[in-house]
Amino acid sequence: MDISEIQEKLKSELEGFKSEMASASNLDDIARIRTRYTGSKSYTITALGNIGSLPREIRPAAGKEANSIKKEIEDLLEEKERYFKNIRFDADLRSQKPDLTLPAMKTHPGRRHIISQVIEEIEELFIGLGFEIAEGPEAETDYYNFEALNTPADHPARSLHDTFFISGKTLLRTQTSPVQIRYMEKHQPPIYIIAPGKVYRRDYDISHTPMFTQIEGLVVDKGINFGNLKWTLETFAHEIFGRERKVRLRPHYFPFTEPSAEVDVSCKICNGSGCRTCSNSGWLEVLGAGMVDPNLYKFVNYDPEQVNGFAFGMGIERIAMLKYGIDDIRLFYDNDLRFVRQF
Ligand code: DAH
Repeated sequence: MDISEIQEKLKSELEGFKSEMASASNLDDIARIRTRYTGSKSYTITALGNIGSLPREIRPAAGKEANSIKKEIEDLLEEKERYFKNIRFDADLRSQKPDLTLPAMKTHPGRRHIISQVIEEIEELFIGLGFEIAEGPEAETDYYNFEALNTPADHPARSLHDTFFISGKTLLRTQTSPVQIRYMEKHQPPIYIIAPGKVYRRDYDISHTPMFTQIEGLVVDKGINFGNLKWTLETFAHEIFGRERKVRLRPHYFPFTEPSAEVDVSCKICNGSGCRTCSNSGWLEVLGAGMVDPNLYKFVNYDPEQVNGFAFGMGIERIAMLKYGIDDIRLFYDNDLRFVRQF
């Protein structure tokens, strides 16, 4: 047998294959043609198996020829098969009518935690007033959490904080106020920032969790006065709790502000006439605030003669509780989906 004879036979095999393919009209035809031309008894496969028995000189050429024919046959089969499969898929789709009476699949889309939603709402409000967002570390030093906030080691205000210490002078911040110092160290006035974040205190009951969330506010500029603070807090209260809410400032003490105030909002439930939620006072305490104590400026090398400002701080869980009538702070962190999904 010489090579041209083999080539001739392979070629006529290919032609036979092509003519059968031309008349194939469905997947069954393809399956039949596949067995006939690529099965173990097909001419091409047999030829490939017999290469070893051919004269040595023609083996490479014969092998090459048979392989290329085999590949051409397989490619064409695959292409046609895909074509018929598409046709069948289309026909299947057309013949199936959806059953509109079947119950719909239940989906449980994820959603943002209520605390994240409240933070975002407050951020948007302050961004609208021209504030920027600042951040600070949760593992903080004694210096930023207390000392530079005018709260030295022997200061009585320290006992108000049940601090988690990590080691030596490193602690979990008990408030977001240290961001005030960190921000002032790196920036010059005018400063208009809010700083949301997690804070930690050793406390656990109906109104305390060991981790909770605060938003700090700081304004330092020229000629800032208490009226600016009051306007800002009123704007905040009206946006978050409703236009009809009244705001009241009560004298208070914080180490880093002077004068300081606690800020109350008139109770939404009884409209100020007194109920269980507001302990019959008609008012709900929502945040602390005051004019920045000039002592702080010394820690960040500002000239207290040149600038002044105000600060405020609030607990987000408390705001959310008042806004949505939630009576136990621990619900926020129990991860009970029935609670989480309500918002
Ligand atoms: N850091 C205070 C706290 O955790 C809240 C606070 C009060 C922040 C007055 C302030 C402020 O910036 O001026 O209780």
